[in-house]
Amino acid sequence: MEMAQLGADLYRLDGRVAVVTGAARGIGETIARQLGALGATVVLTDLNPEVEATARRLADEGLGTEALVFDVTDVAAVGAAADKIVARHGRVDALVANAGISLERQAVDHSAEDWRRVMALNLDAVFFTTQAFARPMLSQGKGAVVLISSISGVGISRPERHVSYDVSKAGVAHMARSLGVEWAKSGVRVNAVGPGYTDTEMLADVGRSRPEVMQAWLADIPTGRLLRREEIAAVVGFLLSDAASGVTGHLMMADHGYSVG
Ligand SMILES: NC(=O)c1ccc[n+]([C@@H]2O[C@H](COP(=O)([O-])OP(=O)(O)OC[C@H]3O[C@@H](n4cnc5c(N)ncnc54)[C@H](O)[C@@H]3O)[C@@H](O)[C@H]2O)c1
Repeated sequence: MEMAQLGADLYRLDGRVAVVTGAARGIGETIARQLGALGATVVLTDLNPEVEATARRLADEGLGTEALVFDVTDVAAVGAAADKIVARHGRVDALVANAGISLERQAVDHSAEDWRRVMALNLDAVFFTTQAFARPMLSQGKGAVVLISSISGVGISRPERHVSYDVSKAGVAHMARSLGVEWAKSGVRVNAVGPGYTDTEMLADVGRSRPEVMQAWLADIPTGRLLRREEIAAVVGFLLSDAASGVTGHLMMADHGYSVG
């Protein structure tokens, strides 16, 4: 069947198998919900076994979801998860490498363990997860990957300090460029999304415990409000769909203009 060139169907993900890491809660959970709403079968993965309850909740909403518990920093576990998903579904069409942490700490107070912990999850695991799930996509000759970067990958946000996070997220954006070009002829696209401050539980905590920090953030965001998780998920859905067939190696900011304002 010839692919539609225009129209709403281009944005759909019907029949696709999509894998989302860090999907037990937060932005990852909302991305999984959006991909499911676009018609994909979504495998929600997380280190936290609560991801099983999250996947059940989404399935109760009528979405095609299932869960897989593994640690993305364990390269062997990631490979085994990819094998399991391919054995079950016969293919993988989309990956969202979303699991990540931020460690708020002055540069001089970073221990070697602090630095490694952030890099192990935000950079090493993003690479090896992408490698493992891209293998079946490369064999199929089609697939799409979205890596979750941040406003911290293109600029230095204020007033909090987290050099390890900033460097890791800049690395993620450049990984998308490098892999996007390396795999361009193979039909596998790789892009990154850079969220601004988003309405997650983590940020709600900051609003409660350090209202002056929240005030500083809101003053710096051109719209004067936090991103909704749905605003990140919609961009991810677009980049994974055939509507974005012309887009690879790109960092798309979803930040209400924070990084340019
Ligand atoms: N919240 C924001 O404002 C914001 C802004 C920019 C970028 N981001 C990025 O978006 C992504 C999601 O952020 P969030 O706020 O939803 O985070 P979150 O902490 O709410 O969720 C992260 C999820 O990743 C999982 N996880 C952690 N370590 C893991 C591991 N080793 N293996 C598998 N899963 C693991 C956690 O269990 C959790 O469910 C992160 O990469 C973050 O850096 C967030």
